[in-house]
Amino acid sequence: MTRPLLWHSVFFIAALFVAEAADAALDNTSAQAMMQKNGCAACHAIDKKIVGPAYQDVAAKYKGDKDALAKLADKVKKGGVGVWGQIPMPPNVQASDADIKDLVGWILSLKK
Ligand code: HEC
Repeated sequence: MTRPLLWHSVFFIAALFVAEAADAALDNTSAQAMMQKNGCAACHAIDKKIVGPAYQDVAAKYKGDKDALAKLADKVKKGGVGVWGQIPMPPNVQASDADIKDLVGWILSLKK
């Protein structure tokens, strides 16, 4: 008699883990909404260069670089030039630190 109850709990716990994983990383839809909100979408797209590099290319460039998240979050905040060409990225002062960190984390997780 206890068995159905046990399975029920297993599914419940599994569902909790799934919900948690979804919370940890942005999905593409909410990340793109966040790009719009913070103005990144004017210069960036996931899979093609606009003014700035495609986010998939950024992910490929920093693959395996453990400092990339901190380094890029700082660069997005302050702006910079010279890594992808001679067009500068202006400072993104309107974006909150939390949004920048979420966005850079998501960018680095992208695959071609
Ligand atoms: C006005 C255009 C513009 C806007 C707005 C903009 N970017 Fe950029 N972004 C650029 C350009 C140009 C570069 C390339 C800079 C370089 O070559 O060093 C770049 C580079 C980057 C890089 C790679 C940096 C590196 O050193 O490799 C990341 C990550 C990035 N942008 C994220 C963002 C995010 C997140 C936002 C929104 C908060 C944003 N950008 C808003 C133009 C922009």
